[in-house]
Amino acid sequence: MSTQKRPTFTWLGHAAVRCDLPGGEVLVIDPFLTGNPACPPESKDFERLDLILVTHAHGDHMADAVALAQEHDALVIATYDLCEWLSAQGVERVSGMNLGGTQRALGLRISQVRADHSSGFLHDGQPVYGGVASGFVVRADDGWSFYHAGDTALFSDMALIGELYHPELAFLPIGDHFTMDPEQAARACGLLGVKRVVPIHWGTFPPLVGRPADLEHALAARRVATEVVTLSPGRPWAMAA
Ligand code: NI
Ligand code: MN
Repeated sequence: MSTQKRPTFTWLGHAAVRCDLPGGEVLVIDPFLTGNPACPPESKDFERLDLILVTHAHGDHMADAVALAQEHDALVIATYDLCEWLSAQGVERVSGMNLGGTQRALGLRISQVRADHSSGFLHDGQPVYGGVASGFVVRADDGWSFYHAGDTALFSDMALIGELYHPELAFLPIGDHFTMDPEQAARACGLLGVKRVVPIHWGTFPPLVGRPADLEHALAARRVATEVVTLSPGRPWAMAA
């Protein structure tokens, strides 16, 4: 285990997470950067970007996806229906998938999993169906893995995500109002059986009232052993073993 190379994660505020792989490739999940009040200006530009994962079609998760994909010729992975729309917007490289499936990209296994949320939006005043909302589990062949839940309510089948994919780290929304609150996120940690959790989707906008300290208290009250890793936007964190 000591020779295992592990990635570095940088929270970009809200649900946007950058992942720098040991081989130098860069992926980003839910790029919402230009309009994101929590994203440091110096973190909005990528010197390189290989892969973009989009959990669902809301602007606070994909506002920068088209521009970033075009600038870097990055591959975009999202629900099939959303990829059709992204293609129509001029994204050249898409690989649509759906819940329950796994595909390889950058040598990683990317599995799309359920999220209890919506995924529609208005474009030029017309409603667009963005497919179902989702989360992703990303697994490397040499052992490390993580789950990004996107926006979701708590659902008991998170236990199945734990049983099927064994993610060691989870990025979970805790803000409340549009997603789980910290109490529900603590239950999610118990269902998933993750070693560590990074709280996301909090602090960006006034309705998102959940805080990492609330999650820590809820985990302790429920005697769930998951460690809370609270990241500061723009500051890289080397994934602990
Ligand atoms: Ni959403
Ligand atoms: Mn959201």
